[in-house]
Amino acid sequence: MDITKYSSFVVLSLLIIYLLSNQRWVLVSGEGNDLIDSTCKTTDDPNLCMKILRSDPHSSCADVKGLAHIMLEAASAYCNETSGQIKKMLNETKISDRPVDKFMRDCLRLCLEKYNIGVNNIQDAIQRLELNDYYKGIIDTQASVNVAITCEEGFSRSPVKLKSPLTDRYYHFDKLCEISMDILTELR
Ligand SMILES: *[C@@H]1O[C@H](CO)[C@@H](O)[C@H](O)[C@H]1NC(C)=O
Ligand SMILES: *[C@@H]1O[C@H](CO)[C@@H](O)[C@H](O)[C@H]1NC(C)=O
Repeated sequence: MDITKYSSFVVLSLLIIYLLSNQRWVLVSGEGNDLIDSTCKTTDDPNLCMKILRSDPHSSCADVKGLAHIMLEAASAYCNETSGQIKKMLNETKISDRPVDKFMRDCLRLCLEKYNIGVNNIQDAIQRLELNDYYKGIIDTQASVNVAITCEEGFSRSPVKLKSPLTDRYYHFDKLCEISMDILTELR
C-alpha cells in the first residue's frame, strides 16, 4: 500500500518535472505566443516585431518561417502604401517653374519609381523564403531598403534645400525590413 502510494508520488513528480523542463510544451499550452516572443527578442525592434506579428491572426499557429512571411508582407504593404502616398503628394505639388516645385516633383517621381521597385524586391524576398533560400531573401530585402535610401538621398542632393516628406516613412520601412532580415537570419 505504502509502496504503491510512493510510486504514484514518484511518477507524478517525474511527470511534473518533465512537463516543466519541456518548455516548449508549457509555452505552447499557454498563449501560443512563445514563438513570437522568442523570435522577436533577437530582432532590431522586439516591440514593433511583436506588435505586428500579434496583430496578424495567422501568427498564433505559424512557425518561424511563417512569421518571416507575415513580417515581409507587412513590409511590402507599407512600401506599397508609401508609393500611394507619394502619388498623392505628386498630385498635390504645384506644377510651376519655381525651382522648389520643380525639384520636389523630380524627387517625388524618383521616389515613386524606387518604392515601386521596393515592393517588387520584397515580393521576390517572399518567393525566396518559400523556396527556403533565406540568404537570397535577405539580399532582396536589403535591396528594397537600398532603393528607399536612394529616394531619401534624392532630396539631400537637390540643388535647392528640400526636406524629404518621406523620412518618417523611410525609418519605419527600414525597421520592418531590418526585423524581417533578422528573422530570415534566424532561419539560416
Ligand atoms: C497597393 O496600394 C494601393 C493603393 O495605393 C491598393 O489599391 C493596392 O491594393 C495595394 N496593393 C497591395 C498588393 O497591397
Ligand atoms: C489630385 O488632386 C485633385 C485636386 O487638386 C483631386 O481632385 C484629385 O482627386 C487628386 N487625384 C488623386 C489621384 O489624388
